Amino acid sequence: MRILVTGGAGFIGSNFIRHELSAHPEHQIINLDKLTYAGNLENLRNIENLPNYKFIKGDICDKQLIKSMEFDAIINFAAESHVDRSILDSSPFLQTNIIGTQNLLEASRKKGCRILHVSTDEVYGSIATGSFTENSPLQPNSPYSASKASSDMLAKAYFETYGLDVIITRCSNNYGPYQFPEKLIPLVIYHAVEGKPIPVYGDGKNVRDWIHVMDHCKALDIAFEEGKSGEIYNIGGNNEQENIYIVRMLLKKVAEKTGRKEDELSGLITFVKDRPGHDRRYSIDPSKMEKVLGWKPETSFDKGLSDTIDWYLENKPWWSRIISGEYVYYYKTQYGERDKQ
Ligand code: NAD
Ligand code: TYD
Repeated sequence: MRILVTGGAGFIGSNFIRHELSAHPEHQIINLDKLTYAGNLENLRNIENLPNYKFIKGDICDKQLIKSMEFDAIINFAAESHVDRSILDSSPFLQTNIIGTQNLLEASRKKGCRILHVSTDEVYGSIATGSFTENSPLQPNSPYSASKASSDMLAKAYFETYGLDVIITRCSNNYGPYQFPEKLIPLVIYHAVEGKPIPVYGDGKNVRDWIHVMDHCKALDIAFEEGKSGEIYNIGGNNEQENIYIVRMLLKKVAEKTGRKEDELSGLITFVKDRPGHDRRYSIDPSKMEKVLGWKPETSFDKGLSDTIDWYLENKPWWSRIISGEYVYYYKTQYGERDKQ
């Protein structure tokens, strides 16, 4: 089977391709990625010469390009993925996340092939108590999550209207190797290493459910191979934590691993003005994945975080190149506006 993987040079896509090529060597992977600021071919260095892997630089919004490609299924990771960026400028989010997805849905319709659309728990919005199931209403609160919710609804509409073979997955916050260092966990690690202030939004008590990226990739593999057409599957880590707890846990581990003093690293924590529209708590119920498809997360948070820190400590050239590029400009724009509380 020839699988068109879109956004495969990003964080989750690159981890997925590596997993897929080893779990299913019979599959051919065509990785289509625009290589935005978040796309990085270094993420795929160790598999780029495999005969069943091919990279194409291109945009999922490009109708002609997609039409000219040959494939038997699509797994759509391509997206603008960072909430803070969507607050600064939502246009690329609407373009890629909505129009790009619609273009891929059309391509699947014409070819009559399966499409797995990779989405997020953020489409459900914030919940004070309890957890969202696949039947919960969508109440997105950021331009990012609104664009993902739109694409989910389009995917569902293509199933209802055209009988398209579509599967939607909604996963909670991922962490692990190759995550772009604007997201919380890699940001805390590299700021600790570099002795930079660690911005914690608001009171630091917002809650996210965290899952290791490899557990997400395995769930996607199962949903793609065995999922039922038209179904939505929540994927979660059963691991809800306050942001400030994560930050402190990371600093403790970085201190242990680098011989630095934990107190000195804790002194870097800087409470900053809250993110506008900041969702207080995300919580999803992943029991459908567990009961129906027999998947459950395997990585403990303690080990997953520890391995992730090791990876960032061992791969400083990877993130040093990133933080010396375009990202620096974004970071100044973003945090220049944020005052200490
Ligand atoms: P990422 O930002 O690291 O990677 C996105 C990739 O998409 C990049 O390689 C980028 O170059 C590519 N891309 C962007 N626009 C494109 C376009 N128009 N055409 C082709 N390629 C394009 O994101 P990620 O964290 O790997 O997330 C991947 C997917 O998983 C996204 O759809 C995201 O919404 C979803 N998701 C992410 C998380 C998370 O915690 N990171 C959780 C749940 C769901
Ligand atoms: P993030 O990694 O951006 O993921 P998302 O907003 O998609 O959940 O942020 C995770 C949480 O950490 C979120 O509540 C915002 C918070 N956060 C900070 O407190 N400081 C930071 O510098 C960043 C990037 C995030």
